Amino acid sequence: MTESELRDLLVELGASLFARGYSVGSAGNISVRLQDGYLMTPTNSSLGRLKADRISKLDLEWNHVGGDKPSKEVFMHRAVLTARPEAGAVVHLHSTYATAIGCLAGPEDTAPIPPLTPYFVMRVGRTLPVIRYYRPGDAAMENDIHEAAKEARAMLLANHGPVVSGKTLVDAVYAAEELEESARLALMLRGQPARELTPEQVDDLLRTFG
Ligand code: 13P
Repeated sequence: MTESELRDLLVELGASLFARGYSVGSAGNISVRLQDGYLMTPTNSSLGRLKADRISKLDLEWNHVGGDKPSKEVFMHRAVLTARPEAGAVVHLHSTYATAIGCLAGPEDTAPIPPLTPYFVMRVGRTLPVIRYYRPGDAAMENDIHEAAKEARAMLLANHGPVVSGKTLVDAVYAAEELEESARLALMLRGQPARELTPEQVDDLLRTFG
């Protein structure tokens, strides 16, 4: 896709996430890898009202070279995109149910959401590390996120929200949606004897769908 097409897609998907309540106010940010750098949603922008020509552009060294001032979470996005060369986009949300799980789970957890459904496993993967709390925009989070992203497509920032990567922008958005709905299911079923997918079923899904 061209940069212009990616800008338009970012506006469209941001509006769609916002319209369905996956982000509120100015919460959340999205980055997309380009051949000559990165696109990033501007700081304090609402995902519901992005303007294609005002989306921030950063060069390959992550210097701001165009558009409005980028998200203060640039370190978070850089951490994932440098750890995962195959990732084309990163979506960070404060979506309610995934954030709730990130408030409940212990910092050592690697699977705070059990494998209840195939699409959670297919889109989010086997592990979902929980990164200890950092203040939003704190550059100190970069190393922890970078290390976690080497092994995991998605993670939860404790008391903050999910960070999800995907091969393409659409993949990252779909994975963020799947993570949010899986978190919702996990909370609905909390305290009830739910039937989780077995390790063999998880292996089969990952073998078949990657
Ligand atoms: P920005 O407005 O700087 O992107 O920050 C929003 C956010 O989600 C902080 O985590």
